[in-house]
Amino acid sequence: MTRKIAVIAGSLRKDSFSRSIARNIAALAPKGYEFDEIDISKVGFYNQDLDGHEPAEWLDLRARIRTADAVLFVTPEYNRSVPGVLKNAIDIGSRPYGHSVFNGKPAAVVSSSPGNIGGFGAHHHLRQTLAFLNMPVLAQPGMTGSIDISFGTRGASAGALPGKASAAGCAFTASPAASLSTRVSMPRRMRSEEFFS
Ligand SMILES: Cc1cc2nc3c(=O)[nH]c(=O)nc-3n(C[C@H](O)[C@H](O)[C@H](O)COP(=O)(O)O)c2cc1C
Repeated sequence: MTRKIAVIAGSLRKDSFSRSIARNIAALAPKGYEFDEIDISKVGFYNQDLDGHEPAEWLDLRARIRTADAVLFVTPEYNRSVPGVLKNAIDIGSRPYGHSVFNGKPAAVVSSSPGNIGGFGAHHHLRQTLAFLNMPVLAQPGMTGSIDISFGTRGASAGALPGKASAAGCAFTASPAASLSTRVSMPRRMRSEEFFS
């Protein structure tokens, strides 16, 4: 049985590290997983007046999360929290009241930053929101990564990253034996079976 993972990367930037990491996670996943990357750039701002008259983009986002088995969030850190675009997408999926598509859906959070603490602030702000949304979130390891800014010059189109950076830029590694590159340091390497099980 194939499990579908909805993926939301919290950045609209063309050369986003977050999107690169998300795509590399998908590329390195074991067989049996299908990843659906949701483009949050077109959804517009959540407005409660539109509940019941939703734009097509909101309905699409909700439908894709509803039909997923789990959600993977990959977020940068903006001012010690998640970017507004990511929070906005979550708000859209969480409404109308009582019909949140996130309710009970398993999730994993990966954060990254060129800063030393790897988006720790964003990571834990996001967990607070996901707890409120009743999402069981993979607790350990805390998947934060301090990313080397030079990664971006090569990492614009993820999936096409050079092997070493590609393996290291991903919190989930398909092979437990894969070693971390010095370009991207993770406090603890994620074993794929810890998430993909
Ligand atoms: C508005 C803004 C606020 C930011 N705040 C933080 C921050 O609080 N902590 C941090 O480590 N990096 C911060 N950064 C740097 C981002 O983590 C960095 O630009 C990252 O690469 C963005 O993710 P992306 O590559 O997926 O677009 C900030 C960047 C922006 C644009």
